[in-house]
Amino acid sequence: MTESGQAHRKNEHLALAESNFRRTPPTSSLNDIRIIHRPMPEISMTEVDLRMSNMDFNWQYPFYIEAMTGGSEKTGEINQQLAVAARETGLAMAVGSESIAIKEPAQATSFQIAREVNPDGFLMANIGAGHSAANAQRAVDLIHADALEVHVNAAQETVMPEGDESFYWKDNIKEIVEYVKVPVIVKEVGFGMDAQSINELAEMGVQYVNIGGRSGTNFAQIEDRRNREAPEQYSFLYDWGQTTAESLLEAQNATDAINVFATGGIQSPLDILKAQIMGAQAVGIAGHFLHTLLTTDVDGLIDEITRWQKQLTELYALVGARKASDLVNVPYILSPELKNYNDQR
Ligand SMILES: Cc1cc2nc3c(=O)[nH]c(=O)nc-3n(C[C@H](O)[C@H](O)[C@H](O)COP(=O)(O)O)c2cc1C
Repeated sequence: MTESGQAHRKNEHLALAESNFRRTPPTSSLNDIRIIHRPMPEISMTEVDLRMSNMDFNWQYPFYIEAMTGGSEKTGEINQQLAVAARETGLAMAVGSESIAIKEPAQATSFQIAREVNPDGFLMANIGAGHSAANAQRAVDLIHADALEVHVNAAQETVMPEGDESFYWKDNIKEIVEYVKVPVIVKEVGFGMDAQSINELAEMGVQYVNIGGRSGTNFAQIEDRRNREAPEQYSFLYDWGQTTAESLLEAQNATDAINVFATGGIQSPLDILKAQIMGAQAVGIAGHFLHTLLTTDVDGLIDEITRWQKQLTELYALVGARKASDLVNVPYILSPELKNYNDQR
């Protein structure tokens, strides 16, 4: 089967994300947060329970494989491997945008494979905020998803050669939240969020937001490199947006009436812990897990995730936390630059 332009784009996203990762390994913005060490944690590691649970989610672990791919033969293989890793480690997983499967039904299998190999796992569907509520429910039904991610990606569309030019999304998001039968998470793809937008989403009835901050996979760079006629013409947007650390501070200054997830540049279990201490209930990882899979194999990814699960347990013990709700008591300081950001906001 010859693949469409959109399927080709999915392959390019994957290849360029990995190539960028190798060229310039991401530096987590959470390096700007330092946890204060306390020498007597008074806890045993056996008491630690990493479970993440609220009214809609009940996960064994507070981190998950974030939305990446699907929509071509090659990316279907990647979804299959990610789903095996999710199944073997008990992690939740999101598939990439299913918009292509709605336009080109032949590509649906590259997403459905994730459900096929992991029938009992927690799977999240993914669709852009420009889609109708009916399409959003289709994306859910296609993989029998347990939740839906709706991505808001104006900066990415701006740089993308064939990107959308219209960003009227609020009415769609409201309709999707009312219509879709599973929990909805509104997510950025790496440019972060601000307190006001988080408040607006809460007022629109959104209960889950993923601040999707800058400092990891950078779609301004990826889309710019895809444009062969005029590559790198958008270099002025490479630093656009709020980092993951800044976005978590924004979320702290927003309403409590919304649950916060985080993604963007997570490179270690310590980054997960810091994001949780800053208020994230769950933390998504895309680029690092993709890189691990592509430079090793499925077993390599399973080993990495298993190691992170063990190390996160150790870190909880190190900060004296038996469960996620204990993390609010962990003291930390901000780098001068991050404090400056916070002071000015
Ligand atoms: C190859 C690739 C494709 C992606 N495709 C999507 C997508 O279709 N929908 C979406 O919401 N996010 C997508 N993302 C963004 C990730 O879900 C995540 O928000 C972002 O990469 C930041 O996390 P990271 O720094 O751990 O990669 C993609 C990321 C990668 C690496």
